[in-house]
Amino acid sequence: MSSDTDVTATTAVAYPNIALVKYWGKRDEEFFLPVTSSLSLTLDIFPTTTTVTVIDGPDDVVEFNGEVASGTPLARITRFLDLVRAKTGRTERAHVVTSNAGPTGAGLASSASGFAALATSAAAAFSLDADQRALSRLARRGSGSASRSIFGGFVVWNAGDGLGEAADLGSYAEPIDGGSLDPALVVGVVNNQAKAVSSTVAMRQTVATSPFYLPWAESSKVDLAEMRAAIAASDLAAVGEIAERNALGMHATMLTARPGIRYLSPQSLAILDAVQGLRADGVVAYATIDAGPNVKVLCSRADAPVVAKTIEALGDFVSTQTAFSGQGAYLLRDGAS
Ligand code: DP6
Repeated sequence: MSSDTDVTATTAVAYPNIALVKYWGKRDEEFFLPVTSSLSLTLDIFPTTTTVTVIDGPDDVVEFNGEVASGTPLARITRFLDLVRAKTGRTERAHVVTSNAGPTGAGLASSASGFAALATSAAAAFSLDADQRALSRLARRGSGSASRSIFGGFVVWNAGDGLGEAADLGSYAEPIDGGSLDPALVVGVVNNQAKAVSSTVAMRQTVATSPFYLPWAESSKVDLAEMRAAIAASDLAAVGEIAERNALGMHATMLTARPGIRYLSPQSLAILDAVQGLRADGVVAYATIDAGPNVKVLCSRADAPVVAKTIEALGDFVSTQTAFSGQGAYLLRDGAS
């Protein structure tokens, strides 16, 4: 039944986002409701492109970076498509073809771009009537951070209140005005491999066992309020300082989970030292790190080359990619690119 010209085949593109105030911990696992609100910058590198075609077959078929998916990755996408089917009252299966331009599962936000692209393309393929806020809520159900990749630039994901279905409407992302900020994120890539412990598992274990979790969650509320003020004032140094302390605090909660979880490697710490050195030399540069050893350095567009050069000078173990503010998820129409 399906073919390349099938009107129900739709393609979407979405970009990763890097949180400057992190999402780390769910209050409701089924509905992907976070403990805290978070704030991110959508990037202009490492997009995910996803085509969804409604098919006649008995099962969903997923091709991921050129290989047919099975096991957990397939189950996660089928469960997500089940949500779309439940919302639309449709029962057909889907053929999903998805590819990441960047590394997958390496703390470079591939699940954010992945589920934002899937939500956007699947909603269109199944004719789900969804505005951007509804798409953000839908993407959230695939991976929390994906809620933010529906939008470009600086984005806040409002945690909302309550639990379960009743709380679903109140937990969505929305863009915020970045003023005159034009930041760069220099990504120091030290490891392209998928991490051993997923974010989902690591945050669950942290919430359940770290004595530092609740203090971090409380301080994250202050970080968010101060971050909003710093962005409104277009104060890059303040934005960086808050982002760095929030990220290091998140890693402290993981290190103090039982058993502890450590994504930081000696190479990550070498980059953190280099960032401190840059600051000592008067360069406005601050680091943030997600669930992996790769380090993202926030700086101005003008300083990005010196930041990249300094990180690369550390040795062959690290390469860099420089990202700027990118756009939200979008559909490709009529073969447009
Ligand atoms: C460290 O969104 O990947 O990148 O909702 O369980 O899929 P799930 O987790 P995910 O976690 C992202 C964690 C983070 C911080 C952030 O992006 O805010």
